[in-house]
Amino acid sequence: MTPYQVLIVGMGKRGMHHALTFNANPRFRVTGICDIDAGRLDAAAAKLDHPQKGSDAAALAKAVKPDVFCFTTLPNLRTPMIRIGIECGAKLLAFEKPVALTSAEALSIRDLVRKAGIKAVVSHQHRYGAHYRKVKEIVASGALGRVHTVYGSATGWMTHMLSHLIDYTCWFNNYTPAQWAMAQASGTLKFGDNHPSPDYIGGFVQFANGVRGVYECGAGAPDQPEAAKWWGKNRIGAQGTEGFAEVLTNGGWRAVTKAGGFQSGEGVMNYDLDMPPYIQEMADWLDDSRKVHACNFEHAFLGAEIMLAMQRSAAQGGQVPLPLATGADEQALLKSKLAGHPALVSCEQNRKEFGMA
Ligand SMILES: NC(=O)c1ccc[n+]([C@@H]2O[C@H](COP(=O)([O-])OP(=O)(O)OC[C@H]3O[C@@H](n4cnc5c(N)ncnc54)[C@H](O)[C@@H]3O)[C@@H](O)[C@H]2O)c1
Repeated sequence: MTPYQVLIVGMGKRGMHHALTFNANPRFRVTGICDIDAGRLDAAAAKLDHPQKGSDAAALAKAVKPDVFCFTTLPNLRTPMIRIGIECGAKLLAFEKPVALTSAEALSIRDLVRKAGIKAVVSHQHRYGAHYRKVKEIVASGALGRVHTVYGSATGWMTHMLSHLIDYTCWFNNYTPAQWAMAQASGTLKFGDNHPSPDYIGGFVQFANGVRGVYECGAGAPDQPEAAKWWGKNRIGAQGTEGFAEVLTNGGWRAVTKAGGFQSGEGVMNYDLDMPPYIQEMADWLDDSRKVHACNFEHAFLGAEIMLAMQRSAAQGGQVPLPLATGADEQALLKSKLAGHPALVSCEQNRKEFGMA
């Protein structure tokens, strides 16, 4: 079969992960790469058999006419890339989490994708880790009894981590839509980061099947001493009437169930293992529209709405109904609300990572 042609925009860390994994799969060929940093672009081209390259994504997309338009730019750059991907006639858009920084942008991206009828995927690829899949398997087996709670916590800050936490708990809860979210936040140091975030956010979500979601991200979130790597201190799980099961991104999995007692296993997040199945599912979906990608845009959008509703609640108070009816700029709302409310840390390592005195 002729390989699907891929254009990748943004040849940083994630762009290279995508490019090398696409080229390692016989169903794909990277035929175009784009970056505004000439040095990065040349270095990437040398590792990718010298595909067409350029610094203007729209012009390159017109020239390459890719089947897959993949962009891995920082969170501040989404809508223009979505438009370029749709306008160049690609069959599938592949892009990075988070879907958008504001609900105004998330809703407009949703409308663009739906109107174009284009397939789209968002990279929540940790789920392919064996330890994540083990927890999903236990939850889905019914061994926890009636699942009443899903939860996720990460010491890393919101725009890096919350999208992951929410997506995997939504997976555990079969992507049941949420009805409302309510949250609090503190600290403005990380609004200056390229993943702009309040330093700490925590909140609750009501899912339509009665399951409660509990999330926290950032400086005030608890340490997970079982995971050594700071960015791997994410604990994501589900509790039911007969037990719990949870994964630590860099610390394996563990469960206690009525029938099985205590069980645990190894597992560490690994891009080399997680990217190949993520990329393969794109080929499967392109080949057969019934084989919808697990990381499809509609799943990611459910999570994005929750994440943005939490922020809106933290900025404006109260419970925010879902789905969101109107767009807002949650970044601006939060920044002004949180000025003068510094975050308090849960452990000394968080103080260091957040650059606090
Ligand atoms: N899924 C995951 O596990 C995971 C892990 C890390 C990062 N991410 C996400 O991936 C995205 C990218 O992160 P990264 O660490 O690769 O960033 P990065 O800074 O390493 O790479 C971004 C690249 O985009 C380029 N760029 C910026 N504007 C451009 C433009 N107009 N046209 C072409 N290129 C442009 C930059 O020059 C840079 O090379 C972020 O959204 C981040 O949240 C996801």
